[in-house]
This record gives sequence, C-alpha cells and structure tokens, in this order.
Amino acid sequence: MASGSQRLDRFLSRTLGINRREVKPLLAQGRILVDNRSVSAADHLIDEFSHITFDARVLQAKLPIYLMLHKPVGFLSATTDPQHTTVIDLLHRADKNDLHIVGRLDRGSSGLLLLTNDGRWSRALMAPEHDVPKVYLVTLQNPLTPDYEKAFAEGMYFDYEDITTRPVRLEILEERLARVTLVEGRYHQIKRMFGRFRNPVLALHRTAIGNLQLDPALAPGQSRELTAAELKGLQG
Ligand code: URA
Repeated sequence: MASGSQRLDRFLSRTLGINRREVKPLLAQGRILVDNRSVSAADHLIDEFSHITFDARVLQAKLPIYLMLHKPVGFLSATTDPQHTTVIDLLHRADKNDLHIVGRLDRGSSGLLLLTNDGRWSRALMAPEHDVPKVYLVTLQNPLTPDYEKAFAEGMYFDYEDITTRPVRLEILEERLARVTLVEGRYHQIKRMFGRFRNPVLALHRTAIGNLQLDPALAPGQSRELTAAELKGLQG
C-alpha cells in the first residue's frame, strides 16, 4: 500500500464509528462517493486528499496546497519559533498552519521556498535519490578562482556527518558571484563548502528547485500557489 493511503472500509469504519461488516451495505448501495464517483470496493485505496461523501454528508474534503514563497533574509524556515519570526508569519491565509516547509533555507538566506500540506509530495521532492537540483546565487567576500570549481565537483568530506558531498556544480559568474547547483542539502552545505576556502558567504539566494524558477514578480515576502504546469514540471 502506498504510504499515506488507506482502505476505504477502514476509513469509513473509523469515521462513522461502525464495524467493517456494517460498512459493506453502504458501499453496495452506492451511498459512498469518492471524488464524485460511487465506489463499492471495500479495499479501494484513498488518501488524505480524496473527497469522500456518505449520502449528502461530506466525510473528508481536504485540498492539497502548493505554494512558492520569496523568502526574505531574516525569517526562519520553521513553522513556529519562540524567538524569531518564521516564514509562516509572512502568509495571510487561514490554512497557513497546516503547511510545512519543503527544503529549508537558513535564516540569512533568501529566495525560492516551497510550502505544502502534502507530505507525500514533499518527501518525494526532497528524496536524495530523486536528484532534484537546487540552484543558488552566492555572493562571496573574496574573489573566486577555478580551484573552487574543481573542489566542488569532486565533493568535500564532512567530518561531522562522515560523508563526502555529491558533486556540486559551481559556475563563476563574476569575480565574487557564483551559481551553485546542489542535488542534496546538507546542513549549511554551501557556507561550509566555501568555508574550506576561508571565503565567507555574504549572500545566498535560491533561484530554482528542479524546473521551477522563483517567480520574478514575487517581491521578498510574497507568495503564490504553484500552477498546474509548474506542479507537473516538478513531478517530471
Ligand atoms: N546551503 C547553505 O549554507 N544555506 C542554505 O540556506 C542553503 C544551502
């Protein structure tokens, strides 16, 4: 069974407070609709976004939400925090507390941040084996040299986690500006990689995740829903 899915009879028995034997006739009589279609199979699989009704009664109606936010510097990528303002504080929608963050950015970083209430989607997008590239513009304190490209492409050993980073693409755009493309996201990875060169990161801005670019029409702090085409592009 796909994670997050469950059998329809199990859901009905729990929601209606009846046993599975009592669920059977309701299904047979066509009184249960899943996504507006009558379903009679007890083992039909549903998930948290299946729309389910029993006669005229709505038993489950939860819509998936997929947002892109232009994260400004200074906001924490967390849902709550006792000390700092979080990216959730930037949203003005009643359902904002149902959302979680897909791939955090450090408080001092800016750019494309995704939020959703769909755990399966976010897990799939961030799974390391899916190799979804994340693209960053990085402003450095000191000039870059071709040594950086080589060192990033070879990967760096991180003592603390006992791992070698997967190859990272670094393109020198200006003397102190690089475009960095990662497929994983280790803790403070970019800052730590430049740290090896004793070159402090002055600004870090995420411009893309997979095929999805940060919408240039979004000012820092603004957000919008992903379009169907953007969602499809990310799944591909
Ligand atoms: N690497 C970092 O160091 N910080 C981020 O926010 C993202 C990647």
